[in-house]
Amino acid sequence: MQYRAMTPAEAGQALDAACGILRGNLARFTDKFQYSNSENQFYAPSENLEWTTGFCTGEYWLAWEHTGEAAFEAAALRQVDSFMDRIRRRVDVDHHDMGFLYTPSCVAAYKLTGSETGRDAALLAADNLLSRFQQKGQFLQAWGALGARDNYRLIIDCLLNLPLLYWAGEVTGEEKYRAAALAHTKTSMANLVRPDHSTYHTFFFDPETGAPLRGSTQQGYKDGSAWARGQAWGVYGMALSYRYTRDEACIGLFRDVTGYFIERLPEDLVPYWDLTFTDGSEPRDSSASAIAACGMLEMARYLPAEEAAYYTDMAQKLAWALWEHCAVKDARVSNGLLLHGVYAKNSPYNPIPQDRGVDECNTWGDYFYMELLTRLAKRWAPYW
Ligand code: GLY
Repeated sequence: MQYRAMTPAEAGQALDAACGILRGNLARFTDKFQYSNSENQFYAPSENLEWTTGFCTGEYWLAWEHTGEAAFEAAALRQVDSFMDRIRRRVDVDHHDMGFLYTPSCVAAYKLTGSETGRDAALLAADNLLSRFQQKGQFLQAWGALGARDNYRLIIDCLLNLPLLYWAGEVTGEEKYRAAALAHTKTSMANLVRPDHSTYHTFFFDPETGAPLRGSTQQGYKDGSAWARGQAWGVYGMALSYRYTRDEACIGLFRDVTGYFIERLPEDLVPYWDLTFTDGSEPRDSSASAIAACGMLEMARYLPAEEAAYYTDMAQKLAWALWEHCAVKDARVSNGLLLHGVYAKNSPYNPIPQDRGVDECNTWGDYFYMELLTRLAKRWAPYW
């Protein structure tokens, strides 16, 4: 596969372009957040809801790191106050996505500025996530009423929620956070990766015995296919799991799931929304590529030089492909950063969910695109 690799200087220039768009968004999106996906390429304002608003704040933190402009820091800190209010009042927090919400917003605030509000809000979010740990099965239940049979499952995305628990353990010195994260990682590793190295999106357990039952999908093409973003969560999730556990098995699974992802990239390197598709007219999910590339760069930190160079080169090529095919370069086109994402798409095998955010920007795609550029432009201290 031949493609141009983005250089660090080009990553810096792409960040300049992204920060230009964000600068224009500050007035509209500080007290309000961007809705999770754009419509006709433009985000509408939203209250602090869903699993996606932390990425808006994370983009401002990355923009502040890149430019040093006080306006980005001020906007991010104002949003951190909103996250404290949200967890205190328990607004839309009965799910596991506390890491997606509170790591790029509040943990980042604490790491970058020492914000006590950020730290305290993130610790409350970590406690909320911990409350979803199921002894029977040893996992964090993703969605729904705790213990309910029809929702007694983990999902691959949750690997990105675990750094919040590891961080909470480090900050408080309490072992319970790390113990839950380790148990969940072990259960995920044992059940989510298929023999051909594709991944299940979700996996059910028996609520009475904790026995593993079956894999299924929520947002992929079908239960047996590999939803592109799920596979990407697996790539980044295994890299982060290795960072926190130093378990060599994470490296093996990282190689497996990343190999599967890379082998199914089309010629232009922007994956289709499900890796079942390798050519044709199905929509792409640009966010999957940004997430996977961040995972490759994270894992490259721990690998032998030759292997690290391979994954770094691949991430640089994915970044260049995103810049070429998906990056917004003109605010008249979009107020987002990365075109051609998919939030959810139905299929003949999986008619629920309804199509949503198909061939649109989404906040996580924008955030991980910026994180990817930041990782390529400089040695970056991760929020995760
Ligand atoms: N974590 C939910 C998603 O990737 O759509």
